[in-house]
This record gives sequence, C-alpha cells and structure tokens, in this order.
Amino acid sequence: MKSKPGENSYPDPASADEGRLASRIGHEDERRLDLALRPRKLDEFIGQVRNKKILAMSIDAARGRAEVLDHVLFSGPPGLGKTSLAHIIARELGVNLHITSGPAIERAADLAAIVNHLEEHDVLFIDEIHRLQRAIEERLYSAMEDFEFHIVMGEGMGARTMKLSVKPFTLVGATTRSGLLSSPLRDRFGQHFHLDFYDHAELSEIVRRSAALLNVAIDETGAMELASRSRGTPRIANRLLRRVRDFAQVNEASIVTREIALAALELLEIDTAGFDKMDRAILGAIIDKFDGGPVGVESLAAAVGEESDTIEEVYEPYLLQEGFLARTSRGRVATQRAYTHLGRTRRGTLL
Ligand SMILES: Nc1ncnc2c1ncn2[C@@H]1O[C@H](COP(=O)(O)OP(=O)(O)OP(=O)(O)O)[C@@H](O)[C@H]1O
Ligand SMILES: [Mg+2]
Repeated sequence: MKSKPGENSYPDPASADEGRLASRIGHEDERRLDLALRPRKLDEFIGQVRNKKILAMSIDAARGRAEVLDHVLFSGPPGLGKTSLAHIIARELGVNLHITSGPAIERAADLAAIVNHLEEHDVLFIDEIHRLQRAIEERLYSAMEDFEFHIVMGEGMGARTMKLSVKPFTLVGATTRSGLLSSPLRDRFGQHFHLDFYDHAELSEIVRRSAALLNVAIDETGAMELASRSRGTPRIANRLLRRVRDFAQVNEASIVTREIALAALELLEIDTAGFDKMDRAILGAIIDKFDGGPVGVESLAAAVGEESDTIEEVYEPYLLQEGFLARTSRGRVATQRAYTHLGRTRRGTLL
C-alpha cells in the first residue's frame, strides 16, 4: 500500500515553464489567486455539466473495479479549468498527482525518471502536452498502452533497448491547441473532454463562490455584471473580482453592487463585451490596417505587437465564438458585429 497521496512537480524546469505561462496569462499574484480559488472536488467545480457527469462516472467506475482510470485529455482555451480538473481527478481517486509539462521534459531520460516514480494508479499530469518533442512523445506511446517504457542505450549498431515496466497509471494531458496534437497521441487517450466557454449564470456562480472565499460582499447584480464581462472564462472572472474588490475597498463600498462593478470595469477599460485593450486592438487593426481582412495571424501579430501564438491561444477563441471574428482560408476577417461594436462603418463591398 502506498503512503498518503500527495503531489510532485518535476522536473524543476516545469515550474520555470509555469512561470513562463504565468507571464503570458497574468502575473505572480494571479497564480496565487488561481491556487486559492481552485475547486478541489468535482462538486465544487461549476459548469461543464456534461463533461463533469461523464468524468464522475468513469472515476466511480474505475474506483469500483479497483482499476486504473483511462487516460484523459482536456482541451480548450486558457483559464477554463483544465489544470483544476487534473488535480480533482487525482484527489477523487485518492492517488498521487505528478505534474510536469510538455516543454519541461527535455530528454527521454527525464520522462523515464518520472514514469519510474509512479505508484499504482497514480495520475501523471502533462500540461501543454502539444509542446512535447516528437521523439519524447513516441516514448509515451508504449507507456500509455502497455505500461512499458523503452530505454535506448548506446548508438547505431551497438544500440540496445531496455524495457522498464511502469505501474498502471493515468495520463492526464492538457492542451490549449488540440489541433497541434498528433493523432497517434490523441488516439491513445481513452477520454477526450473539450472545455467550452462558460455561460453568464455559471460565471456568476463562480464569482459568488470566489467572493465568499475572499470575504468580499457582492450582490446578485454585481456578480452578474462581472460574469457578463469575463469572456466566458473563470480565471478572468476571478481576476475581475479581485480588481473590483480593490476598487470597492478604496471607495469604501461595503458591498459590490452593479454600480460599483460598472465603475471599476470602466476604470479597467473592460467594455460591455468583456474585451480588454488587446481584444479591441486586434479587431481595430483588422478593420483599420487591413481593411477588414482577410489577414494572416503573423501580420496581425506584428500590427498589434503580440505573439501570434498568444493571439491564437488566448484572444481568438472567444472573438470567434462570439462572432466578432471569422476565419477563412485566406486569414482572419472582422465581422459586421466587430464593426458595430467598435463603432466603425464598413467601406467597400461586403464579403
Ligand atoms: N469550473 C470552475 N469552477 C470554479 N472555478 C473555476 C472553474 N474553472 C476554473 N476555475 C478557476 O479558474 C482558475 C483557472 O483554472 P485552471 O488553472 O484550471 O485553467 P486551465 O484551463 O488549466 O488554464 P491554462 O490553459 O491557462 O493552464 C482556477 O484556479 C479556478 O480558480
Ligand atoms: Mg492549466
């Protein structure tokens, strides 16, 4: 029998890489907030009802049969709960969680060391799994399928392969770019959950839960206002709540109402669609600099001074889902909705 379940992060570069991620999505404070507000159990995880039901069922079934849970892949835009769910799975199974990320695994030996440490039925979480090097990814295949890890020793004619047997484990992969995942890897996951943006009612519930944890008084209208400006994303809802809390404190408001929320959001330059400066810069650039598009993501990135990966991973999904942006084979185009939102008139012929 194993000792008390716990958590392991490796290797160290993983945290360095998390730092890189954090700087892309926010800052150190935000990471701490994420941790403090992270739902710990499936019951605390709001929304994603269908995904949650299926996940709960397979966790129960695996537990009931005392079998290892099938490998799980989570995909979807940043901040929707992929990492939270990985933690929850390990906790619900009562096993250890081992955390790493695609770019942190630099050599096959790193992966060998990680899988060698797994205890029976443990969860290995690989964040940003689409960024695993191909040669390392291929080593994962037999580990996932047969719980065997092949170590190649030596080179050329003299090379020998050693088989390391691995305890049955569950791989939980997370990716913001499931399209970049190779099909052999994707096919080895028994379950694939795509996380969608949250609706306003769910986000409002998340805001109220977080407010209670942070000891912030907020009324129904205040929570709803924040929810509707959170780009369908719990992490953003929590971020706004924190800023609004500061605003309320400085302005000596004892409770966050709609009025307080509105005043704070205005100060933060978050508009009625929940867009921040970068969202507006992206739409504005397509309209003003590229005549409404189509424009390739690289040119767009150069025009707004942001990395193209960030545009694709962080900004575009919501703009696409809400119909402000459309993707064509020749690039991105601004839709009528974008023109209306930014108060611009379309020149020339309609697409
Ligand atoms: N369903 C939910 N219910 C309540 N809070 C949530 C939910 N989903 C996410 N959150 C909150 O949002 C934060 C961000 O979620 P998480 O880190 O799991 O997202 P992620 O999908 O892993 O993002 P990334 O792709 O950037 O790694 C969590 O710490 C938690 O506070
Ligand atoms: Mg994550």
